[in-house]
Amino acid sequence: MSFEVIAWTREGAVRLLDQTQLPAAEVYLELRSVPEMVEAIRRLRVRGAPLIGIAAAMGLAAAAEQAARQGGFAAGWLDEAARALGEARPTAVNLRWAVEQVRRVGEQALEAGEAPARVAARLRDEAQRIWDEDAAMCRAIGEYGAALIPGGATVLTHCNAGTLATGGIGTALAAVYRAHAQGKAVRVVSCETRPLRQGTRLTAWELARNGVPVTAITDSSAASLMARGEIDLVLTGADRIAANGDVANKIGTYALAVLADAHRIPLYVAAPRSTFDLSLAHGGLIPIEERAAEELDAAPGAEVYNPAFDVTPAPLVAALVTDRGIAKPPYGAAIRRLFG
Ligand code: MRU
Repeated sequence: MSFEVIAWTREGAVRLLDQTQLPAAEVYLELRSVPEMVEAIRRLRVRGAPLIGIAAAMGLAAAAEQAARQGGFAAGWLDEAARALGEARPTAVNLRWAVEQVRRVGEQALEAGEAPARVAARLRDEAQRIWDEDAAMCRAIGEYGAALIPGGATVLTHCNAGTLATGGIGTALAAVYRAHAQGKAVRVVSCETRPLRQGTRLTAWELARNGVPVTAITDSSAASLMARGEIDLVLTGADRIAANGDVANKIGTYALAVLADAHRIPLYVAAPRSTFDLSLAHGGLIPIEERAAEELDAAPGAEVYNPAFDVTPAPLVAALVTDRGIAKPPYGAAIRRLFG
């Protein structure tokens, strides 16, 4: 990969590629406080379910290092910082999952009476472990997912589930990158993904940078391409997957799933175990983020409804590609076998 999405600086801050500026400019930010990281996550400077978890975990560690340098932690600091980061966005379960792991490590270190610098170091090690683990899960998803992509296939994807969304080579795009590396002559059709255009701005950018043939389309072009037989499979990421296999992903995924079903095209969803929320029986229980009206640029006076995600019912999903293998329906049992 020819760009660095996230990194530590030598001083222990978090360096982020500001994704709101892509593809026009590659601007890097250095964040060292909780409010700065919360703002970056809310504004989608950093985005994608696994990556916001990693960024929040690293942000918590960076802020702890600052606090340690300034004399230590105020009472309740760790819980309050973890709460603020965990609540920055509601739908991707990876965010709270990652923050909670780091918080717990910090809590244990504080209870053991460790020095502030030692506590901060432990938070950093845990954040790094979460990042490394995500990169390994991406590689595994890439191997399993590539097996579902026939040679010469055209893959339609939505939003961005690649390097820009994870700590590694992506989830949905990991499968594409692996298939490409295996010489399968894969092509990608990237839906625009209204309103913030993660498909045309981000997916098209990273695929082109990595030499994978990509065609950007408006969201509303997907149906006619499918009708003309130009799409072989649909492959997306996920923000949260319920115990029955219902999938929350970027708004518009459900529409693509219905279209794929109508045209008898398989829809596959790729996600690591950190995206599965087995505490929720079905997708109707997944909190769906609603975003600001300004993102739609509607006429003044119009009411705006701007949900960031939708839920695709499990029966429309042909397979779930995970880091532990491929789950096929019935999903309840298959997911329990993989992650139970
Ligand atoms: O609002 P975003 O850009 O964070 O939404 C991202 C998505 O919907 C991705 O498809 C999902 O997080 C999977 S990323 C591997």
